[in-house]
Amino acid sequence: MSITRVGVVGGTGPAGKGLVFRLASAEVQVVVGSRDPQRALAVCQKVDSGRSWKRFMNGGTNEDAAECDLVVLATPWDALVPTIKPLKDILAGKIVVTIANALVKTDQEFQPVLLAEGSVAALVSSLLPASAIVSAFQHIPAGELLDIDHDLKLDVLMCGDDVPSKLLTAEIFGRIDGVRLLDGGSLAMSGAIEAMTAVLLNLNLKYKTRTSIRISGIEA
Ligand SMILES: NC(=O)c1ccc[n+]([C@@H]2O[C@H](COP(=O)([O-])OP(=O)(O)OC[C@H]3O[C@@H](n4cnc5c(N)ncnc54)[C@H](OP(=O)(O)O)[C@@H]3O)[C@@H](O)[C@H]2O)c1
Repeated sequence: MSITRVGVVGGTGPAGKGLVFRLASAEVQVVVGSRDPQRALAVCQKVDSGRSWKRFMNGGTNEDAAECDLVVLATPWDALVPTIKPLKDILAGKIVVTIANALVKTDQEFQPVLLAEGSVAALVSSLLPASAIVSAFQHIPAGELLDIDHDLKLDVLMCGDDVPSKLLTAEIFGRIDGVRLLDGGSLAMSGAIEAMTAVLLNLNLKYKTRTSIRISGIEA
């Protein structure tokens, strides 16, 4: 299997848009998906025409995004069920990357929401049994990706049960300069990463910064 186009369902929000911009700037063809295709087109049109990578972006519906070879789900976690149910057949046989965290903000801090399935990734997997689910990017701040002239130095922890799908995911996103995807294990590990993101967000609040993770001990 080769990946020629990446689709981002809900690609008009900061997280999806950040991935779209970074993939396009790595010369990967991307389709921004939205419930309103005009909104997705606007994301593409608003990119400065001086950016040569603008030509790698297209906008459309969430169905258009789901037609791509690899599909990122970039809606809030509580919108995933109604969003992906109608896309189930289109997504069959494809790599589906889930980036969502189930978090709630109390007065004090972010806290993880514990789902009956164990994680958002497990929920997605239960809804898309014929897709290869890869979990990644939960702990990467959208601002890092959107700040397009800022050099990245990011480790992305990735989980999934299908090793070839993880390798393809790591290859395609690894084309983004400064991004390294590391195999964090089976999809059952996703809950730990999703929950840990709450801690990073609380650090961001406390220290007024944008934290990310660097894993030491693994050479490039
Ligand atoms: N923001 C971050 O820094 C960050 C970092 C890592 C991971 N994440 C994860 O990435 C996902 C997206 O984050 P975000 O901050 O970009 O979220 P967002 O802006 O709230 O939502 C992203 C997009 O999802 C679509 N959407 C929103 N509500 C929906 C609904 N009820 N039904 C269907 N579609 C809906 C919207 O697109 P349309 O209106 O155009 O359809 C929206 O632009 C979340 O699951 C989050 O946990 C976020």
